[in-house]
Amino acid sequence: MKNKLWTILAFPLFGMAIAACSGSKSTGSNAGEPALKDVFKKDFQIGAALNGSQIEEKDPQADAVIKKHFNVLTPENIMKCEIIHPTLDKYDFTLADKLVDYAAKNKMQVVGHTLIWHSQLSPFVRRMQNADSVKQFFNNHITTIAGRYNGKLLGWDVVNEALNEDGTMRKTIFLDKLGDDYVTEAFRLAQQAAPNTQLYYNDYNNEQPQKRAGCIALIKKIQAAGVRIDGVGIQGHWHLGRVPLADIEKSIEEYAALGMKVMFTEVDIEVLPRNFKGADVNQRMASDPKLNPYSNGIPDSILQKQAQDYANLFKLFLKHKDKISRITFWGVNDGQSWLNGWPVRGRTNYPLLFDRSFKPKPAYYSIIATKK
Ligand code: G3I
Repeated sequence: MKNKLWTILAFPLFGMAIAACSGSKSTGSNAGEPALKDVFKKDFQIGAALNGSQIEEKDPQADAVIKKHFNVLTPENIMKCEIIHPTLDKYDFTLADKLVDYAAKNKMQVVGHTLIWHSQLSPFVRRMQNADSVKQFFNNHITTIAGRYNGKLLGWDVVNEALNEDGTMRKTIFLDKLGDDYVTEAFRLAQQAAPNTQLYYNDYNNEQPQKRAGCIALIKKIQAAGVRIDGVGIQGHWHLGRVPLADIEKSIEEYAALGMKVMFTEVDIEVLPRNFKGADVNQRMASDPKLNPYSNGIPDSILQKQAQDYANLFKLFLKHKDKISRITFWGVNDGQSWLNGWPVRGRTNYPLLFDRSFKPKPAYYSIIATKK
């Protein structure tokens, strides 16, 4: 009941007639618009997460947008364990190598995502029962992959999402079999294998006070062990009308005070109803037509509200540009966002700066306007 009430209160426009469609309201084509990477050139890098077909250059429209607007790329999935290390003795670097070549050819940089994460693990890892096997996997996985790309990547998300919402360590196979120090050990191995690559800790909701405190403790622990950590990624999966600006500002200041480069690594602002925060891929909601109100188009009023949220966010980023190194969007256009399939399958979501035809949305213009 509480969740239902939350949804209704948070979405007052829910059920209203669709006034306008994002496609028909888009202003102009992409070709004549300023490139995001040029607009923010003196401030921070502007990135996008790419899916497999974008890395293989199978999508010419996406390709044009990527080359025009972004100067740093993150693989959305293809460097995750289940793809890059499918069985115990086999690594598959095909797509990761393609991404590195694609970036080099187009004068872009790459952030590796991610060496150690509890999700999207290969089945052989999930089946491991004893600590020795997990330790051997952990060492080989980090050393082999980080070593292969040493100096070819800007940085690595060495460990992803190791924390619970209350700042304690998340219960994963790594915590269970390797103990509390596994995050420090992951950074130690990455530092040895990739001395010329930046090393980051990445999480969602780590701008929230309790999780931020846990993240700060983790960073201090790594530093106290004499191990290198260069930055912290705040993923930035936020919700329309509820971007936590004050918490974000405090987080930028507190992480920077530890000597961290601060990065916003998976930014999107979703517009559909949801009854929890964050991006825990294990959390899902049952499908229900009421949870998919904009399947035939989105009211312009919602897009304007989203544009305002993005503008406020970028004003804050610019205020702290001396501490922020990168802003990466989690996807290229609305139709390609993971939020069409999570936490409810088969919805029509609108979280990014480009619509389904790759036309810039009001959110794109609003962030450009923050520079004027
Ligand atoms: O590759 C298979 C394909 O073979 C199969 O036919 C298809 C059927 O569902 O699934 C494909 O795998 C999907 C995979 O993306 C690649 O497209 C999975 O089902 C799907 O669950 C997976 O979702 C990814 C999600 O991580 C899973 O953990 C999203 O694309 C990706 O955007 C998302 O990214 C994470 C970050 O890594 C960490 N932070 C949160 C963020 C959002 O969840």
